[in-house]
Amino acid sequence: MSYKNIILDKSNEIATITIHRPNKLNALNIETIQELHHAFDIADRDKGIKVIILTGSGEKAFVAGADISEFADFTAEEGKELSANGQKLVFDFVENLGTPVIAAMNGFALGGGLELAMACHFRVASDNAKMGLPEVSLGVIPGYGGTQRLPQLIGKGRAMELIMTAKMIDANDALKFGLINHVTTQDNLLPFCEKLAVQITRNSSVAIAAAIKSINANFKNGVNGFDVEIEEFGHSFATDDFKEGTSAFLEKRKANFPGK
Ligand code: COA
Repeated sequence: MSYKNIILDKSNEIATITIHRPNKLNALNIETIQELHHAFDIADRDKGIKVIILTGSGEKAFVAGADISEFADFTAEEGKELSANGQKLVFDFVENLGTPVIAAMNGFALGGGLELAMACHFRVASDNAKMGLPEVSLGVIPGYGGTQRLPQLIGKGRAMELIMTAKMIDANDALKFGLINHVTTQDNLLPFCEKLAVQITRNSSVAIAAAIKSINANFKNGVNGFDVEIEEFGHSFATDDFKEGTSAFLEKRKANFPGK
């Protein structure tokens, strides 16, 4: 599939997906959502890819939200469908990928843009980044998981305030709130994320996928995360990566994980 709105690059076990609609501050239209689904799926299935970095094109925005021009005339039914399809194709999909996804937030991350970053496994932002969920200023609410993931990440009171005021916070406040893990300069953003990604690639990809599943279980209704952890912990013992990891430790050498 050739993409119109995103760029997919692969190098050294790291895939970088860049949302590329700079004239629209990388706003998410339906076509971009479909392309993102395809690119994440391809990268996740590629055994040579161990980490995915998601970023935006240009120096101004990660993603300035869902494309407002596309949904301005929607009916209630169409609005519901937009939310359900987007959550299924990208937001829930990314959160539940076995391949770690790092959001490299290079500027505005608003509305669907912040929701997309929050669906990633963790976030790093450049010092010019501004974040918020301004949907109520448009007469709508966050529909790509924002009302669920924001309180998970920063607590209910702060999430209530951010959503109700529709205000933006800067990268330093986002760091203080635990919404992002690191702040760096814009020039250093991708190198910084790549360094983290390289550290991740040295570990067992099978164990990492199991850890993601187990951590996510903590936030799923009707699922006991401790039970999922017990299951995943047990499964680990049957993997080649476990045999390699423990043998390497005992033989005092670096592990070379087969990834199965
Ligand atoms: N949907 C569609 N188009 C968008 C967009 C969005 N979410 N965000 C920005 N754009 C477009 C603008 O319409 C403009 O297009 P144009 O040049 O064809 O008119 C272009 O991107 C540049 O944006 P502009 O508003 O001129 O840049 P700015 O620097 O003055 O302001 C923002 C930047 C981010 C503050 C402003 O674009 C904004 O408020 N965007 C909407 C944020 C939002 O409410 N997101 C939640 C959506 S649910």
